[in-house]
Amino acid sequence: MNARVSIRILPWQSARAEAQRVRETVFVVEQGVPREIELDEWDERCDHALAYDAAGHVIGTGRLLPDGHVGRMAVLREARGQGVGARLLEALIERARTRGMGRVVLNAQTHAVPFYARFGFAVEGATFMEAGIPHVTMARDL
Ligand code: COA
Repeated sequence: MNARVSIRILPWQSARAEAQRVRETVFVVEQGVPREIELDEWDERCDHALAYDAAGHVIGTGRLLPDGHVGRMAVLREARGQGVGARLLEALIERARTRGMGRVVLNAQTHAVPFYARFGFAVEGATFMEAGIPHVTMARDL
């Protein structure tokens, strides 16, 4: 776990500039997801987690929808493998708990299944395509 990373949960109007920058870098530039799919109407209704490095730069983000879905988990490539994604996911799960949600669901890119499995998420159903990337639904009771 990276103790030098701090997490803040913010509404969209406060998180927007930094969350968009990280998501653009990871999903649009790195993964080739069309920009018009990456941004959707849900952002304004989500809790957004931002991860800050020791210098105060935002290096990762994720969101919790009002229906208990976690999504848009993204850590800048150079910051991966240091526990940043774990801190983001734990913060979003904690927020789901404080919102009284009994279950968290997500659509995982299949390469990220082992990441979510470490946090107790189990695969539900078959693989499907979204934005040209194979995904699978995973869920965890809180
Ligand atoms: N396969 C297996 N294990 C993985 C993994 C993977 N692809 N990615 C991370 N893990 C493990 C780590 O080894 C670590 O385990 P440990 O605690 O025993 O050391 C644990 O999961 C936490 O990893 P962490 O370093 O916190 O993850 P990260 O900061 O690299 O973030 C992602 C993970 C998936 C958010 C990041 O790789 C990413 O942004 N990828 C590109 C965008 C993307 O695909 N997002 C997911 C959309 S569903």
